[in-house]
Amino acid sequence: MKIFVDTADLDEIRELASWGIVDGVTTNPTLVARSGRSFKEIIDEIFDIVDGPISLEVVSEKAEDMVKEAESLVSKISEKHRKNIAIKIPINPEGLKAVKVLSKKGIQTNVTLIFSANQALLAAKAGATFVSPFIGRLDDIGQEGMQIVEEIMEMFINYDIETEVIVASIRHPIHVIDAARIGADIATIPPGIIRKMVKHSLTDVGIEKFLKDWKKVKK
Ligand code: G3P
Repeated sequence: MKIFVDTADLDEIRELASWGIVDGVTTNPTLVARSGRSFKEIIDEIFDIVDGPISLEVVSEKAEDMVKEAESLVSKISEKHRKNIAIKIPINPEGLKAVKVLSKKGIQTNVTLIFSANQALLAAKAGATFVSPFIGRLDDIGQEGMQIVEEIMEMFINYDIETEVIVASIRHPIHVIDAARIGADIATIPPGIIRKMVKHSLTDVGIEKFLKDWKKVKK
């Protein structure tokens, strides 16, 4: 399973990329606002840090405007990095129209705010490169979020659909394990959860004991 980092925090992206575990990045308007940086600063740097799909979200509501916004975003990225941009588009009729046009133009799309398998199926039909089911937000309202990932994977496998499934709105490390066991293509994970994934108290105790015992060894 590929790991994307779900943040617009450039320092976090740089640090986690240095661990060798980052295959891509997803952002959204909330994450950009939280980073405290301007959108321009983020897009100027993010493509230099990670050589993999980078999702940037449009905020227009009409298909025609989404397409224009997407093209304007693409034009802001240097030629050598353009292959990595994925335009994040919300699932609704206008979003589907925009995905159809962008996919014909060869621009990658990540259809976001997916809360049902049927939404994912329609996004894939329209030509989405990626679909992003938001599992944590479903869990929040008492629905089993991971179940729609299972349904989407099953449908996509049945019909050899190439659209990749990004498990998004991940809230804890168990979500990542579940996504990988289902065979999702990608999990997009907030930095805090990646840090929890690498940590185990027995590892810390083990390192401390080895270092303490090493001091007793005659060098
Ligand atoms: O990738 C989508 C993600 O950023 C949404 O997460 O925690 O706001 O539901 P959350």
